[in-house]
Amino acid sequence: MVPRPSALFASAAVLLSTTAFAAPTRSSYQEPLEDGALQEPPVAKYPFKNDPYDRKHDTYGEGVQPLPIRNGHGTSVLGPVNLDRDRQNPDLVRPPSTDHGILPNLRWSFSDSHIRIEEGGWTRQTTVRELAASKEIAGVNMRLDAGVIRELHWHKEAEWAYVLDGKVRVTAFDTDGGSFMDDLEKGDLWYFPSGHPHSLQGLGENGTEFLLIFDSGDFSEDSTFLLNEWIEHTPKAVVAENFRLPPEMFENIHEKDKYIFQGSIPDSIDKEKPRAFKRSKHQYTHHMLDTPAQKGSGGQAKIVDSRNFPISKTIAAGHLDIEPGALREMHWHPNADEWSFFIRGRARVTIFAAEGNARTFDYMAGDVGVVPRNMGHFIENLSDDEPLEVLEIFRADEFQDFSLFQWMGETPQRLVKDHLFQHDPKSGEKFSKMVESAEKDVIKSQYYDGKEEGLEKGEL
Ligand SMILES: *[C@@H]1O[C@H](CO)[C@@H](O)[C@H](O)[C@H]1NC(C)=O
Ligand SMILES: *[C@@H]1O[C@H](CO)[C@@H](O)[C@H](O)[C@H]1NC(C)=O
Repeated sequence: MVPRPSALFASAAVLLSTTAFAAPTRSSYQEPLEDGALQEPPVAKYPFKNDPYDRKHDTYGEGVQPLPIRNGHGTSVLGPVNLDRDRQNPDLVRPPSTDHGILPNLRWSFSDSHIRIEEGGWTRQTTVRELAASKEIAGVNMRLDAGVIRELHWHKEAEWAYVLDGKVRVTAFDTDGGSFMDDLEKGDLWYFPSGHPHSLQGLGENGTEFLLIFDSGDFSEDSTFLLNEWIEHTPKAVVAENFRLPPEMFENIHEKDKYIFQGSIPDSIDKEKPRAFKRSKHQYTHHMLDTPAQKGSGGQAKIVDSRNFPISKTIAAGHLDIEPGALREMHWHPNADEWSFFIRGRARVTIFAAEGNARTFDYMAGDVGVVPRNMGHFIENLSDDEPLEVLEIFRADEFQDFSLFQWMGETPQRLVKDHLFQHDPKSGEKFSKMVESAEKDVIKSQYYDGKEEGLEKGEL
């Protein structure tokens, strides 16, 4: 196990009291935090001082401040700081020595998104406007209380969604006049192709919350085709003609009090089926968490795309559970940008962008990450005590990735050794032995024993 920074700090503090370290000058880093975790002297400076291997540090979980000090370089911070943000982003404050060059920002927290508050619900979005790299996909986080309705509507983008909590009733309507109703729970998905009209309504005691995904980064949740708005903006004479009713009946329909609004509590699906109900030939919903998992030695991945959820032609996704100390292996995706949403835990991700450029970002629950197509990356479970649960989402019909490990195993070993170990044949042999099975292990269990000096083999 990597020693916990707090444990290291404890020994560093002992060390401090008996050696000649001068107490560092007071800076805002030394202000005690509410949880009392940060006492004098400033902790982070010592545990993270030297680490040629750039191991991960869960500064948020440990309640310590990262400082821009690394392997003998850098120094303290004197100016103002946002303590919480620094602790949430240790790899921005103190990037691994392998980071290099310029990469755009690839992280956004839904906590930084504006919330639109409506009757019995709310919504907030992460689009290309919040995160410039979010070009292929826009995400919307929405909450509907019990009985609260997201108005009947449609849009030009396809909509995919993952239920984060609670229960929700979905309805949809297809081009052959077929209709669809289903009740979903945490871990379930829906997909509505471009233009297919639909509605959502919170069920149960507390309604629901979900993540909506649209297959265009400049989508706006505020610009959808709404039933009430269309009626409002059509000459009443035409509406009357269309529905074969007198025009005065439509005088009091107003667009402004809809969008998200408190509705009546729905009955069971069977009781609510309209007389004209013709079951759609499409299956618009899917139970993602019931999908058979691809097991790795350090976790599992559940993949849902058009191969097991045929209607989902433009969105593919993986649901990952990453175990203690485990690693979503080094890989890349050839067919789409990755748009990831962190449901639980904390993670470290380094994105390799070619031309020697690489940058590391930290993510926690509620964060969005983008990894542009083909850029190499990994996901490390940063936390020592919290599960890491992530959705990897793509604007693609199939989930595709390349495993570096597997590629190395399935390439002539002479070639591999010539590239990586030309002057160190002994290490080349060991490497070759490790990769020769060429098993794809999507999530790898902990490997290093955490010893400062070494790349020794752990419990694998
Ligand atoms: C609904 O929310 C309340 C308050 O947060 C909570 O106590 C209750 O357990 C929730 N009910 C369900 C079914 O989740
Ligand atoms: C992430 O790691 C922590 C401990 O290292 C573990 O408790 C947690 O279960 C892991 N997450 C998952 C999803 O396995």
